[in-house]
Amino acid sequence: MAGTETGAGQGRERPIVIVGASLGGAKAAEALREAGYRGGIVLIGDEHERPYERPPLSKGYLLGKESREKIYVHPPQWYAEHDVTLRLGTAVAAIDPAGHTVTLTDDGRVEYAKLLLTTGSVPRRLPVPGADQDGVLYLRRVEDSDRIKEALRPGARIAVIGAGWIGLEVAAAARTAGAEVTVLEALELPLLRVLGREVAQVFADLHRDHGVDLRFGVQVTELTGADGTVSGVRLGDGTEVAADAVVIGIGIVPAAGLAEAAGLEVDNGIKTDQHLRTSDPDVYAAGDVANAFHPLFERHVRVEHWANALNQPQTAARAMIGRSDAVYDRVPYFFTDQYDLGMEYVGYVEPGGYDRVVFRGAPATREFIAFWLSGGRVLAGMNVNVWDVTDPIRELVRSGRVVDADRLADPGVPLGEV
Ligand SMILES: Cc1cc2nc3c(=O)[nH]c(=O)nc-3n(C[C@H](O)[C@H](O)[C@H](O)COP(=O)(O)OP(=O)(O)OC[C@H]3O[C@@H](n4cnc5c(N)ncnc54)[C@H](O)[C@@H]3O)c2cc1C
Ligand SMILES: NC(=O)c1ccc[n+]([C@@H]2O[C@H](COP(=O)([O-])OP(=O)(O)OC[C@H]3O[C@@H](n4cnc5c(N)ncnc54)[C@H](O)[C@@H]3O)[C@@H](O)[C@H]2O)c1
Repeated sequence: MAGTETGAGQGRERPIVIVGASLGGAKAAEALREAGYRGGIVLIGDEHERPYERPPLSKGYLLGKESREKIYVHPPQWYAEHDVTLRLGTAVAAIDPAGHTVTLTDDGRVEYAKLLLTTGSVPRRLPVPGADQDGVLYLRRVEDSDRIKEALRPGARIAVIGAGWIGLEVAAAARTAGAEVTVLEALELPLLRVLGREVAQVFADLHRDHGVDLRFGVQVTELTGADGTVSGVRLGDGTEVAADAVVIGIGIVPAAGLAEAAGLEVDNGIKTDQHLRTSDPDVYAAGDVANAFHPLFERHVRVEHWANALNQPQTAARAMIGRSDAVYDRVPYFFTDQYDLGMEYVGYVEPGGYDRVVFRGAPATREFIAFWLSGGRVLAGMNVNVWDVTDPIRELVRSGRVVDADRLADPGVPLGEV
């Protein structure tokens, strides 16, 4: 029977335990060591791979352009070199905040001094008949990307459900691989809730120009098939889209079940303060799973993007070792690459939370900056195939000052002077 561990080595103080061995968890371990913490660190993850980054899984790695070695956060020896006990293939089943202990699914127990939850998120499942057949694919883990890569053959018919980030990036990879692609989206445009109508149209045009059959406002009612293998997607109007494989990207659900069962405050993820501390003073959360109070926006914000999982753990690590000045107030940032379009987005806009979009450059050229404004203030900016401008855009967002929209639209005016 498994016993209770006090940490990486017997006789040591109780360690800092991190649950979720992905980008967030690995960066937290790194930040703890960089901040001079010399105690035990136990990093527990239910995947069998050492921590890796997910963005390549729908881009370079999926396209076969980026090798597997490139996806990992650290080389294999890094963990031992930094005295980080990495326990892979191990899921945490429960947290006992009063006893400062986590229970593993194999019944083992690990005590903690502080606990960090970087459990991330899981794909939302499509609740229709036929969704459990072979050939129905989701994308979160590296093995999912391997399976999708197999399916992206020249001439293969790929149906993509959901025109969000996963759907569009997979559609771009599939077209690049020579597959026939149909994208099925419930709303009227791709990425509509994040980008709004004006800019979402740019992505619709991009994919149409690359030969994707985009169908908006559809309702998927069933995945058809024979002998347990998918063969198509049935829509609410009775039409069927034939498919050799169906990729589903209809959003994620934060993996907050452990926290909820332990009695921590959970509301759209694990609620934290600006130090990333949960409702239990010895438990912290970061990355996709954290709904963190953001001092700049004066509300809780949960960000489902790479830069957040990269940077929040630094704050959590410092806060866990008693640095009371550790506050997470970075402006959210994310990026995408689809075909020959690269973009970066910095800022934060709630769905429908802007009153004006200003373009610097013409969207049709796919070389422009879009700004979302409310009351004359810039909430967010997105540079498309224009580079080295995220710093001034971030400053515009952070300053909260009212800008002159004509100067904002004028490429001749430096962004710092609008
Ligand atoms: C295919 C893909 C492409 C993406 N591309 C981009 C991009 O281009 N740009 C961008 O900004 N963002 C991108 N993202 C989003 C970005 O990858 C995520 O925001 C980021 O991975 C979040 O990191 P995380 O460490 O918080 O959680 P995750 O990456 O979800 O990792 C959480 C880990 O915790 C493990 N875990 C969960 N529960 C337990 C438990 N009870 N016990 C043990 N382990 C547990 C999980 O298995 C997982 O390994 C992409 C995501 C995907 C899936
Ligand atoms: N470049 C990036 O930043 C990037 C890339 C890939 C993934 N990610 C992250 O991965 C996660 C998952 O991405 P995602 O694309 O699945 O989520 P998403 O939230 O970006 O998009 C989901 C899309 O599916 C649509 N949808 C929902 N239910 C549907 C249904 N029943 N039928 C048809 N359409 C439906 C939504 O309207 C939305 O357009 C997100 O957290 C995302 O931020 C980010």
